[in-house]
Amino acid sequence: MEMFNLEDLPGVGPAIARKLEEAGYSDLMAIAVASPSELAEVADIGEGTAAKIIQAAREKADVGGFETGDVLLEKLEGRKHLTTGSKAFDELLGGGFETQAITELFGEFGSGKTQIAHQLCVNVQMAEDEGGLDGEAVFIDTENTFRPERILQMAEGMGMDGKEALKKIHVATAFNSNHQMMLVDKAMELARERPVRLLVVDSLTGHFRAEYVGRGALAERQQKLNKHMHSLLKFARLYNAVICVTNQVAARPDVFFGDPTQPIGGHIVGHTAMFRIYLRKSKGGKRIARLIDSPHLPEGEIVFMVKEEGIRD
Ligand code: GTP
Ligand code: MG
Repeated sequence: MEMFNLEDLPGVGPAIARKLEEAGYSDLMAIAVASPSELAEVADIGEGTAAKIIQAAREKADVGGFETGDVLLEKLEGRKHLTTGSKAFDELLGGGFETQAITELFGEFGSGKTQIAHQLCVNVQMAEDEGGLDGEAVFIDTENTFRPERILQMAEGMGMDGKEALKKIHVATAFNSNHQMMLVDKAMELARERPVRLLVVDSLTGHFRAEYVGRGALAERQQKLNKHMHSLLKFARLYNAVICVTNQVAARPDVFFGDPTQPIGGHIVGHTAMFRIYLRKSKGGKRIARLIDSPHLPEGEIVFMVKEEGIRD
């Protein structure tokens, strides 16, 4: 996006510009896709003023000419897709992992959640015309699952220099759920300096599950998780980024057509995440991915492989 001055927008003086900047609304697209109420809150202005600012940002972001509604919508929202490395998997997701949304990978141990997360950290670095986002990754690791050696293999599998790829992946270990939530704020700071287009949280629910035990703690846990999900969604929208979170659930084929996530995670995760993918193991290194619900895609199921060089058909 070309450089522009926040004060070029109507009604934005130095004080408001500073507030917007501090809250991370430093580029045109961030403002163009904001809602009047959120902008009003961060900049301490009326919603009417906020709406005018957003409208102006949208006009500036537009290049003009006629376009069909769907193209316009994509553009307004600036939505992009990140490839998984598997054609079938990408098709299931309408082109890959979508930016400005949270995608939840859930499934039992060994179902491939962490493998996919690693692959995305590599793929996000590829050029847009190759299915990447020309960006860098943040990996919030809660269970010490990040493996640099695995990145080397996957990067080489994509014809990239492994060491260079590792330099564009920013890894932080979250020691507990509060720390995990705080790391999203840290990621926001980082994203102001680096082109972070992917944020992974592996695992989203591990700490929460361990810390909030028993029925008495359930409400508080869900409240915290909800807050966490909302700050992740904010990150996704501000930086037009892909958010990939993992959630381990026990394999319960008996309730698969019911609600396989019933035991852990709860409904808040389900409602905030826009895409939910249920992963399970199959024969011969095969994995099955099933899209459970999404705002605009049909449910479906595909087979993919976890190979030495990475995620493939
Ligand atoms: P939990 O974190 O325990 O819930 O599991 P997960 O869903 O994150 O599983 P993960 O993504 O770690 O998958 C592990 C599986 O990936 C292994 O059991 C292997 O089948 C496969 N895998 C990992 N590394 C390699 C590799 O280098 N080559 C191949 N072919 N498969 C691999
Ligand atoms: Mg894992």
